[in-house]
Amino acid sequence: MAKKDLDWGNLGFAYHVTDKRYVSMYQNGAWDEGALISDDKIVMSEDAGVLQYSQSVFEGLKAYTTENGHIVCFRPDLNASRMADSARRLEMPAFPEDRFVEAVRQTVAANADWVPPYGSGATLYIRPYMFGISPVIGVKPADDYMFRIFVTPVGPYFKGGAKPIVVRISDFDRAAPRGTGHIKAGLNYAMSLHAIVDAHNQGFAENIYLDPGTRTKIEETGGANILFVDRDGVLVIPSSTSILPSITRRSLHYVAENYLGMKVVEREVTLKEVEDGNFVECGLCGTAAVISPIGKINDHGREICFESGMEEMGPVMQKLYDTLTGIQMGRLEAPEGWICRIM
Ligand code: PLP
Ligand code: COI
Repeated sequence: MAKKDLDWGNLGFAYHVTDKRYVSMYQNGAWDEGALISDDKIVMSEDAGVLQYSQSVFEGLKAYTTENGHIVCFRPDLNASRMADSARRLEMPAFPEDRFVEAVRQTVAANADWVPPYGSGATLYIRPYMFGISPVIGVKPADDYMFRIFVTPVGPYFKGGAKPIVVRISDFDRAAPRGTGHIKAGLNYAMSLHAIVDAHNQGFAENIYLDPGTRTKIEETGGANILFVDRDGVLVIPSSTSILPSITRRSLHYVAENYLGMKVVEREVTLKEVEDGNFVECGLCGTAAVISPIGKINDHGREICFESGMEEMGPVMQKLYDTLTGIQMGRLEAPEGWICRIM
């Protein structure tokens, strides 16, 4: 085994074709046994369900090299169950959760040379996904599905890593009140592409979406949940039925209470409270984002500046970041069941 010759410390969040990917087909009402393959290309009907009616769901998790040289991943069982929830909402057959975890293990192990070394700042991003592959012309679910996993080594999601970013309040909505915002369906990301391109063109790193029903409450960004710290040091996490139940956010809730002795509240958060200056720190959290600090929110030209500023992460976000990544990289003892050792 020889690590690939990559400039690990300077990787962006980008796709590299790696050696092996996992594939399983659902046909005649059952999943086949699945296998690791080398071919990164997919051949399908021009009328595949995914191409016509966007019947696709996906997941994102990471593998890490720990301080003592093991390769591990973080809470893959939660990705397995979220993907099954996503599949059911789009009338797709769920990939069995125990097989999902085993497939993640096999795919990471088969690409061990691509797992960035400890201390490089990079990680191996794991992308499980599933889509309708058989022809569909009337609006209905496909009969056959393909489940796949590929991996790609990645650096920070936002340029500059832990440098605070500026985000804007979006005029577009991400999810309907009783729609699909709570699942990881490709369609939620397709509809965000215009908003993200426009945000980038205007110099913003991301969009904060408001609740589509009233447009008064903070939901999440295109690819991460949001965290606030109030003036009493309480971690305030916006709740909504139309945001993705982030595994990072759920883990940070536990970490804040049980490792850092913080008070944590999950509740609706209004834009007005944010504008009134009730919060001193703000950040995005997710697998790709880890914790990315927000220095400013721009609401149609009006700037909401957090006291943590534009130079570095605020002290509470930093403690959360250090503790979470410490658990993931094996520097801190993990809660039971959080770390899945691959090799
Ligand atoms: N919200 C959205 C819309 C996302 O795409 C993601 C990324 O997966 C998250 C939140 C964070 O979720 P997790 O922490 O499970 O990666
Ligand atoms: C993740 O954090 O895994 C995501 O899916 C966010 C983004 C890359 C879509």
